[in-house]
Amino acid sequence: MTVSNFIVFEGIDGAGTTTQLNILKDKLKSKPSWFTTEPTIKETGVFLRKVLKGDIVLHPDTTARLFAADRCEHLYGKDGILEHAQKGELVVCDRYLFSNLAYQSSECGASLPEELNKSFPLPEIVFYFDISPDISINRITGRGVTEIYEKKEFLEKTRANYIRIMKEYEARTKIIYLDATESIESISEKIWSAIENLPMIKK
Ligand code: TMP
Repeated sequence: MTVSNFIVFEGIDGAGTTTQLNILKDKLKSKPSWFTTEPTIKETGVFLRKVLKGDIVLHPDTTARLFAADRCEHLYGKDGILEHAQKGELVVCDRYLFSNLAYQSSECGASLPEELNKSFPLPEIVFYFDISPDISINRITGRGVTEIYEKKEFLEKTRANYIRIMKEYEARTKIIYLDATESIESISEKIWSAIENLPMIKK
């Protein structure tokens, strides 16, 4: 199942999804829209941020399950994705189940993440930001703080997972491939041209 009015940004760390989310947020200030992120700002998401920082160490299967639990509440819970999308708002989410499939497959194999995410509905459009970890790692290092997954080898595996997953999902939803090494302006124009005709943006 696909949720109308729901779009997602995906890519390895340092691909620039958050920068584009902020640009789009600014452009859509006066339009019915809701911007959100995974992990969420709810309790499970806050806990996951501690795991990402390395402050709490968990078995990889537990981490995979927690990301899926956070997503379940994000989708179906109060003030969640479905509630906003059903009101006719454009829901823009920085990361979704594809992150679970790509990242957690790198540390606990593909079958558990597949099992955990198979019943979640899909977004209308996925923007996949492709970048080599050689470049993205430099961007991350420039930020100062690094998280548990921000290592070149891990991100190489994760990028390969993303490429495989995007291919698999092409038949089920719309995937837009972006070259994340292009300029911020050029990427933002491509995103805009893919969404400018959506009803809540045109009116
Ligand atoms: P970000 O806020 O900078 O995008 O970082 C979130 C991190 O969480 C990033 O390394 C990807 C990771 N992540 C997973 O491993 N699995 C998931 O399901 C989600 C949503 C994020």
